[in-house]
Amino acid sequence: MKRESPGHVFLVGFMGSGKSTVGRMLAASLSRPFLDVDCLIEERAGKSIADIFRDSSESEFRRLELAAIQSCKALEPSVIALGGGAFVSEENRRLVSEAGISVWLDCPLEVCLERARGDTARPLLGTESEMRGLLDRRTPYYQKASLRVRTGTRSPEEIASEILTMTPFV
Ligand code: S3P
Repeated sequence: MKRESPGHVFLVGFMGSGKSTVGRMLAASLSRPFLDVDCLIEERAGKSIADIFRDSSESEFRRLELAAIQSCKALEPSVIALGGGAFVSEENRRLVSEAGISVWLDCPLEVCLERARGDTARPLLGTESEMRGLLDRRTPYYQKASLRVRTGTRSPEEIASEILTMTPFV
């Protein structure tokens, strides 16, 4: 039997950790809408994230990201994928905890990089050692998520069903 949760499920984690893929499956299982904050930012800005970084700056992107996360509060309970850097911001983390629960998709760097390899849509993608440094700096923030799921190379279906067993929805 399904119990309704009052809030959103936010998926948190590094680039390529599977937030969008797992998020879509989780949303379908919960019969909830799925929202990707990066897509919301692009729709509102009328340009891609790569273009926002190129034409403006990362701080302009972070400003748009904060505004997009703020606007999630008004939505019906949804599954929401956050960009890989969103949970670093204390204000974003506060908004997320007020609006629902957060689940960290803890994915090995090698798997993230394999998925993200050659992706021109991710302006912060760098060399393996740069990405190791970025992940190390972000891990203490990801650890602040309400729940952690070790993803490894497990299928998105398996990960989504593990989240379902951990969350108060079923
Ligand atoms: C970013 C990750 C991206 C996107 C932007 C910045 C980051 O999202 O928000 O390029 O800071 O790690 P994904 O995690 O979906 O790639």
